[in-house]
This record gives sequence, C-alpha cells and structure tokens, in this order.
Amino acid sequence: MNHLTRILAALASAVSLFACSESDNSMKSSNFADLFENVDTTNMVKVDVKGCASFVDAAQYEKYVGKALTAFDTLVSGTGEGNDFLGWKTLPTETDENLIAACEAVRDDWKNRKVDLVVVIGIGGSYLGARCAIEALSHNFAKQLKDKGDAPEVVFAGNNLSEEYVSELMDLVAERNAACVVISKSGTTTEPAVAFRIVKAYLEEKYGRDEAAARIVAITDAKKGALKTLATQEGYRTFVVPDNVGGRFSVLTPVGLLPIVLAGFDVRAMLAGAAEMEKSLSVRSEKNPAVVYAAMRNLLYSEYGKKVEVLVSYNPKFQYLGEWWKQLYGESEGKDKKGIFPASVICTTDLHSMGQFIQDGDRVMFETVVNIEKSNRSVVIGTDPQNLDQLNYLAGSHVEHCNAMAQLGTKLAHIDGGVPQLEVSIEKIDEKNLGGLFYFFEYACGISAYVLGVNPFNQPGVEAYKKNMFALLNKPGYEAESAAIQARL
Ligand code: PA5
Repeated sequence: MNHLTRILAALASAVSLFACSESDNSMKSSNFADLFENVDTTNMVKVDVKGCASFVDAAQYEKYVGKALTAFDTLVSGTGEGNDFLGWKTLPTETDENLIAACEAVRDDWKNRKVDLVVVIGIGGSYLGARCAIEALSHNFAKQLKDKGDAPEVVFAGNNLSEEYVSELMDLVAERNAACVVISKSGTTTEPAVAFRIVKAYLEEKYGRDEAAARIVAITDAKKGALKTLATQEGYRTFVVPDNVGGRFSVLTPVGLLPIVLAGFDVRAMLAGAAEMEKSLSVRSEKNPAVVYAAMRNLLYSEYGKKVEVLVSYNPKFQYLGEWWKQLYGESEGKDKKGIFPASVICTTDLHSMGQFIQDGDRVMFETVVNIEKSNRSVVIGTDPQNLDQLNYLAGSHVEHCNAMAQLGTKLAHIDGGVPQLEVSIEKIDEKNLGGLFYFFEYACGISAYVLGVNPFNQPGVEAYKKNMFALLNKPGYEAESAAIQARL
C-alpha cells in the first residue's frame, strides 16, 4: 500500500506540475518534459528535477548540463584545481579488507574490556560523516531503551569549545567504562586537542597509563602532526587519514569507518553501496544523476538568483545528513565570493518554524528533498469510537502515508510559492543506501564546484578565525597578531 501510494503520489506530482506550468505559461520551452525524460531512474540514488520545470528555461538547462559534463571530464581526468585531493573517488572499490578487519579488531578488543562508552573526538570532516551515519542508522530512542544491544554508546566531543559541554561529558565518562577515538588529520586543531587533553588525562588517572593507551585510538596523518607524535610515543593504535583525502570527503576512510563499526553497523554494506554509485556515476552522460544535480543547482544559482539551497528530509534520522552535507557543499563551494549557501530543515517538524519563510519569505532559495521511498517500520493509525480528534478518516492508514502526503503537499505548495524543487531519492535508510548517498553527494559536489569555477578541495577561509583566536589567546608565535588585534578592540 505504501508503495502504491508513492506511485500515485509521483504521478499526481508530475501531472500537476505540468498542468500548472501550462496554465500559467511559465514553462519556458515545449521540449522541457522531454529533457527530463533523460534522467536516469535506474540508479540506487535517483535525481528528479521536474519540480524545477516551471522555473527554468530548457535551453539554459541544456547549457548547464553541458557545463556539468565538462566539469565531469575535469573530475574524471584529475586535471582540475585541487587534484591532489581526489583519493576519495576510489575509496569504495579500493578499501582493503584488512582495514575493516583492523576496525573490527578494535571493536572486539574493547568489547573484551567491557567498554560501554566511546568518545569520538573530532571536528568538521573529522566527525560529521560518522555522526551522520550513526544517527541515521540508530534507533531513535537507543539511549532510552532497556535493551541497548551489544554495541557501546558513541558520543561526540571536540567539536566545540563550550566548557559546559566538556564538563558534562566528563560526568558521563566518569559513570561509564570509557574508551576514546581521537581524529584529526592535521593533528593540531584546537577544539579536538583541548577535549582530548582532558579525556586522556582522566583515562590515565582512572585506568593507568598502559590501560588508557589501550583505550585510545588515534586517526591522523601517516607521518606528521602533534597527534601522530603523541600516538607513537604512547603506543596508541593508529589509523591513517590518506594524504589525498580532505576532511569533508573522508567518511569512507577510517575517520568514518571506525566509529561506525564501533557503533555496531555494517561498513561492508556501506562501501558496497558507495561502490555501486562509484560505478554508475563514472558514466559520462547527461542522465548521470550527479551531472543532473550539479547542472540544475548551478543554473538556479547563476541565472535565477537562487542563492540558498535547503536540504530537506522528512525523517529526523537525517538531521546530521544535513549537517554533513552543509559542510561538504559550504566548504567546497563557498569561496572567491561565490557559492550557494547550504541550509537544512527536517520536516514536518520545521514546517512549523521555517515553513512560513520557505513558503512566503524572500524568494532566494530552492529545495533539495532527500526522498526516502520506504519506511523501515510500520505503524497503523487506529479507530477511536469518540473521534474527538477527528482523525478517524485516517484510521487504517500508515503514519508514513501521512508523511508522504505532507511531503507531496509541501512540494506543490512550495512550487506554487516560487521555490524550485529537486529530489534525491533512495529506497530506504540502511548502510548500503547511505554509502551510495555519501558517494553521490561527494561526486556531485566535485562536479558542481568545477561548474561554479572554484577549487572544491581547499578551505582557505577556515584559517581566518583561527588566526584571530590564537592571537587573542596569546599563542606563542602569534605575538605580532596579538598586538594588532588588541589594538582593534
Ligand atoms: O574539511 C575539512 O578539511 C575541515 O573541516 C576539517 O575536517 C576540520 O577542520 C578538522 O580538521 P582536522 O581533521 O585536521 O582536525
């Protein structure tokens, strides 16, 4: 029934969109529908841009598909800016079974030590992928359920400088049998370094230096950086962040894989899903979903003034998909005074907060809805003889049917309100689909940034706040900056 509902919804959507476009004569070209027939629907991750049909000109769209294909060539040939950071492209097919086995060895060793809490310390690309996957794959109420399963609880730290956060983290660590994964590619980032110094000192005091060392794993550069030096000195187990993979593209390296394995999820399936997309996205075609997505978002941005992209999900488990995606696109594209500002909402929750603006505020945005075709769970709404809430008309319906109708109704309302809609669909939330989705967004990001004309793989802007913070904290080596900044205050 759920599946049938979806098909009916999709048909209703298509009919309504084209009817609307004809009646208000805003369809910019008669062959627009034909163009969109080209979109490939066989991939695990599908992109549908029909919800943009009434907003853009077909010839312009074709022009941007051409630009996206040129950018695709640049990405494939490795001839673009930042081409020393393309290692992520082949991670799905080249990840060694030994690496997964090494992650599982840590998991099994910590199980023997009865570890029930793993603190994952990292910031930006060094935690968002793992957090996204773990939150997407976990039971919504895992922490509250009596049966917590075999896997330890994974919590995240080192992604802020709040004293309350660190102090309250230590309340939890003190109650539990804890271990720690510290992740920093550079090995010198302040936020994770501060958190790690505190957690490390506590573990050493509680368990002794040797046992603490067995409860700490460092994921960092193969050769350089303070964390590498410390790990070698203390004898921590280490995993390497490859030189040619930047933080925000690192979810399929040990940066993401180890925490995901520790949380009890299947990274082989995740890599298999990503490998399926690695294969299908490597085909040069105007049907390639990464090409379609990159072309349409650049067209909306460059020709129609759509400066904000809102990533929308109707499942709260995807809140951190939004956070991961915002870093990926924000850091990759927001430079040289260019770039789409990435925002995210969870619906229907945020329809009661941000919905007003999206429907009716300044028309600066388009939406990309991450559509999940099937729910993993089933709950049917019952009949109430009194019907005081007047919901008996829904008796016998799945909750997810209401969610699907809210999604469709919102899509049509937002299109009517002037917000173009892209849709990125997966079948369901599981490791395989998530792996495919990670790879899809990474690949499309590389193409999209090259269409925009920026280097997708650097982040020079991130340094500005660090320089000021170090100056204000009187870090040795920043004496001149300290004097200069004090003079400004
Ligand atoms: O994408 C990036 O490169 C950044 O967001 C980094 O991941 C982030 O700054 C953390 O850096 P590091 O892993 O060196 O501590």
